[in-house]
Amino acid sequence: MSLPSIGVGLIGCGTVGSGVVELLQDLRELYARRLGVELQLRRVLVRPQDVNYKTERVPAEALVTDPEAFFATEDMPVLVELGGGRGAISEFVRRGLAMGKHVVTANKALLAAEGPELFALAREHNASIGFEASCAGGIPLITALNFGLMANRIQAMYGILNGTCNYILTQMTAHGAQYGDALAEAQARGFAEADPTLDVGGGDTAHKLAIMASLAFGCQVSDKAIPCTGINTLDLSDVRFGAELGYEMKLLGLAERIEDDNAVALNLAVQPCFIHREEPLAQVSGSFNAISIFGDAVGQTMYVGRGAGKEPTASAVVSDILNIAAGWYPKAFSQLKLWPDQQAPARLLDPRENQARFYLRFNALDRPGVMAAIATALGDAGVSLSGIIQHESRAGEFVPLVMTTHEAKQGSLEDALNQIKQRDFIEGEPVVIRVIEMPPG
Ligand code: NDP
Ligand code: HSE
Repeated sequence: MSLPSIGVGLIGCGTVGSGVVELLQDLRELYARRLGVELQLRRVLVRPQDVNYKTERVPAEALVTDPEAFFATEDMPVLVELGGGRGAISEFVRRGLAMGKHVVTANKALLAAEGPELFALAREHNASIGFEASCAGGIPLITALNFGLMANRIQAMYGILNGTCNYILTQMTAHGAQYGDALAEAQARGFAEADPTLDVGGGDTAHKLAIMASLAFGCQVSDKAIPCTGINTLDLSDVRFGAELGYEMKLLGLAERIEDDNAVALNLAVQPCFIHREEPLAQVSGSFNAISIFGDAVGQTMYVGRGAGKEPTASAVVSDILNIAAGWYPKAFSQLKLWPDQQAPARLLDPRENQARFYLRFNALDRPGVMAAIATALGDAGVSLSGIIQHESRAGEFVPLVMTTHEAKQGSLEDALNQIKQRDFIEGEPVVIRVIEMPPG
């Protein structure tokens, strides 16, 4: 007996799109058995110049290069967008939603900038948007945040959210690779964005953090509001000094819920951070992503998996298609108040109020009294030191002087550093890197 079918249209057949085409074909029978419905790839929209080895598995009758032919296709209620970026792609997504199509996308850049509008448009037309692949590749993190942890108020999240950066950091620290070579490898393996400055500059992590924070804390978060530092300005000497102190360097997206006098504010940041090497998050290497999420009832939970690449990302995309075809996801989307179009803008913590531990590196003159003067200036601002490293050198030279602090107010630290860097025994800008102390789990 033949099963009823659900038509799927795909826009973009690059790294992830070709992975989706392969999964839909290779596991077709398994999906049909699980759903009781057959998924049919009706149309795949590509640009003429993109008909290449990645489109080899697309049935000839499904391949189109004309958007009008794509949107004129009947019986295609699911639109999978894997073109990336905004502009024309945003128009395609809006057009599909306005036709009542359920959209599945991995496009975090689009959702971080236009999410609330797109979710509202979907709701207006009885459609839904699945976006599991937009954060942490193959890890079912959106499902965990929206449904698995629904009973909790989320207190904090610390995530390695960019596979390219984690791959580069691992190649450089564990295998001695050069930055440029490691980035080129990440690109060749299909991890990097079309514009890799989004990866190494931290923008991609900020997109994901904005999406995750809006779901975790029930508010609207724009990536533009997140202070963002990438790995492209890192100095390897800091990675080495951190290692001496027992830390691994990771690019983190972090979100902390700060409750004070009955007001709640979010501390959000994307930055290279030190994590003690015994923490599980510190041990996550290569293209893997990992996220520690703290809920008030559950305590610490951790999610680890491949955060980028063809197959892991296709896994998340196809799971969204299946959940839509099964019918439960569109129902949840229409009934629950979990998505950012239904929320108020987030109240963000003034970064100067942020309380944290820090790693500091000064380029300081090696002469009597310098270390004491720095420690005194920090102490006067209420910043207490927990560790110091200075390697031996010939007296009278500028040398790296590394200090770690106990928990301190970021604003007080900044004030002290502004004073210290005016002194004649300091050269250049001090380096400041956050040291992560995980909340009790
Ligand atoms: P690719 O660049 O490999 O593939 C995108 C494809 O879509 C390209 O062939 C591109 O063509 C095509 N395309 C873009 N715009 C259009 C258009 N208007 N009409 C038709 N085709 C179009 O990117 P990925 O597969 O790596 O990424 C796709 C999406 O998935 C992005 O949003 C990305 O951020 C996201 N993502 C990627 C992951 C990964 O590991 N690669 C992981 C998680 C999410 P052309 O090259 O000619 O522009
Ligand atoms: N460029 C992204 C990364 C793809 O490296 O993590 C997955 O979102």
